[in-house]
Amino acid sequence: MRKGFLTFAAVGLLAAGSMAACGDNDGSDQAGGAKKPKIGVILPDSKSSARWETADRKFLKEAFDAAGVDSDIQNAQNDKSVFQTLADQMITNGVTVLMIVNLDSGTGKAVLERAKSQGVATIDYDRLTLGGSALYYVSFDNEAVGKLQGEGLVKCLADKGVKNPAIAYLNGSPTDNNATLFKNGYDSVLKPKFDAKEYTKAADDDVPEWDNAQAATIFEQQLTKAGGKIDGVLSANDGLGNAAISVLKKNKLNGKVPVTGQDATAQGLQNILAGDQCMTVYKAVKKEADAAAALAIGLAKGEKKDTGQTVKDPEGGRDVPAVLLEPKAIYKENVKDVVDDGYVTKDELCAGAYAKLCADAGIS
Ligand code: BGC
Repeated sequence: MRKGFLTFAAVGLLAAGSMAACGDNDGSDQAGGAKKPKIGVILPDSKSSARWETADRKFLKEAFDAAGVDSDIQNAQNDKSVFQTLADQMITNGVTVLMIVNLDSGTGKAVLERAKSQGVATIDYDRLTLGGSALYYVSFDNEAVGKLQGEGLVKCLADKGVKNPAIAYLNGSPTDNNATLFKNGYDSVLKPKFDAKEYTKAADDDVPEWDNAQAATIFEQQLTKAGGKIDGVLSANDGLGNAAISVLKKNKLNGKVPVTGQDATAQGLQNILAGDQCMTVYKAVKKEADAAAALAIGLAKGEKKDTGQTVKDPEGGRDVPAVLLEPKAIYKENVKDVVDDGYVTKDELCAGAYAKLCADAGIS
């Protein structure tokens, strides 16, 4: 895996050489030069997924430190005005590159514009800002993430031999473009089954701001409305999945109803080991952080590298230079891979009651 990525990165980045972006007035031309490189990062929150604080912050910091580049990594804690204030402060404090995970495209766009007007180069990290002006977008293939979730649910339902299952969707935040892409992915697998009347769609709700507590309330309502008959939950990430599992537990349905997830969080993996969650999607955040850091460091030095790929911004119509990494499906059989990759530690995953489940899953 790692080797594959390095090869890709090497091809993508070397092919471009080090074309300096001169005079294209996109903000990058002023990023390098005399200014000392400093990279600002704004993470979105620390509750919608454990990843932002446990993985992204750590891997980004390691990459900047290894390159000897100054960085300032902050978290907006799901507050749009904090998000904007942090951006203003970073710009005032002289960052040469600003990397954001937007809370919605509106504020994201305003922040990117402001940075650009101050000659600060920008990167959309993980989430594309629709109508935005970032010089790069670094993420995973998010439709592929959704496709793995849809296929995972189909596999888990087949394993349980459920006929004509009633499915509930717990989608991500409607303000996150990734949530749209995840849904496109799982719809591509599940819609043909609904159309063929092989499956029934019992519920389809977005979870505002990926809020886990709201997800539990929403799922409780879905279950009540369906008269208790929900056979599978397409949940867009591990946090939302855990919310559904908590409600299923109250109704003694956990383990009987497959639930999907994403992010390979320690909690999600524990739910898989316990048999309460069907699968998760592992996104090797280290690769995402390394790719974004390499581009940011290049921009800070006044270089604009070719990523060899673009993504169309459906709102702005722009072809945004992009790096899109491959996600991987995780089931009970390969939870071990996430530990072997160093993403979750055995100590954290296999604490207390999970020690035996870890041993059974070959995690030692
Ligand atoms: C990310 C997911 C994360 C979700 C909630 C999405 O944009 O791609 O990894 O679970 O946001 O934070």
